[in-house]
Amino acid sequence: MILSGSNSQLLGARLANELNTNLASVQYETFPDGEQKVSVPETVNESVIIVSSTVTDSAHIELLQLQDAARESGATHITTILPYMGYARQDKVFESGDPVSARAVARSISIEADEVITINPHEPSVTEFFTVPAETIDISAQLAQPLPNGLQDPVFVAPDEGALSIARQIQEAYGSGNIDHMEKNRISSTQVEISSPSTDVTDQDVVITDDIIATGSTMSEAIRVLQNEGPHRVFITCIHPLFVQNAYTKLQTAGVEAIYATDTIERGVSSVSVATPLSNAVNL
Ligand code: R5P
Repeated sequence: MILSGSNSQLLGARLANELNTNLASVQYETFPDGEQKVSVPETVNESVIIVSSTVTDSAHIELLQLQDAARESGATHITTILPYMGYARQDKVFESGDPVSARAVARSISIEADEVITINPHEPSVTEFFTVPAETIDISAQLAQPLPNGLQDPVFVAPDEGALSIARQIQEAYGSGNIDHMEKNRISSTQVEISSPSTDVTDQDVVITDDIIATGSTMSEAIRVLQNEGPHRVFITCIHPLFVQNAYTKLQTAGVEAIYATDTIERGVSSVSVATPLSNAVNL
């Protein structure tokens, strides 16, 4: 049986199809004071998979409630899938006095999970924060699927060195093209400086790849820098399309040709489903 968080309805249904298993009818409620409540079917009495991207604080509370309700209703084994794990970027103490937020949320999720699966967290090492068996799936190669055939001398560019392995896997899956990365210097949560890649991209199709697009600051600056180099077209692709604030507008006005992302977070650009790789990773 699959129980979906309210943010992961589409992926939950796709995974249920892939696994040929029941999709539970979960009810979600918000009280006048803002507190939430989820209700699961009265009797579960079986192994369950909970699919829930913790894109907001309330999604995190909802996940804890889903796990607790499933256990109360007799779930014999709970596999919690975090297609997108919120707070994963706060994976260390950056400044004295900071919490390790990724560890705090991982510990709370571990209380009622028997195992956890995450997809491309910003740092794979966050899986060590769970106190139950946890694994991470790398679905980077899937992002080659929606790219147009016959890209013109494609160059797969990461906006920083950290995203280079995603660019490499997409290039390998696409089957042709070069790989390069830019250098990024983050000035604030919405401001970055990015340098040109060393590859000459004149008249070439560029595919910029990253793990997350949040405010779109990184990608819009990368597009702007690359557009100055005279490319044929600039595409962008990412695993987790958070798209907060005016991200779409920033990307469009920077001159992007098309945007491709996965359904770890369900947005208008989520054209790639991770249901199949997820179905291969879970045991019911
Ligand atoms: C950070 O290093 C990540 O890989 C992404 O580049 C970052 O989260 C994107 O955030 P934003 O869209 O706000 O620039």
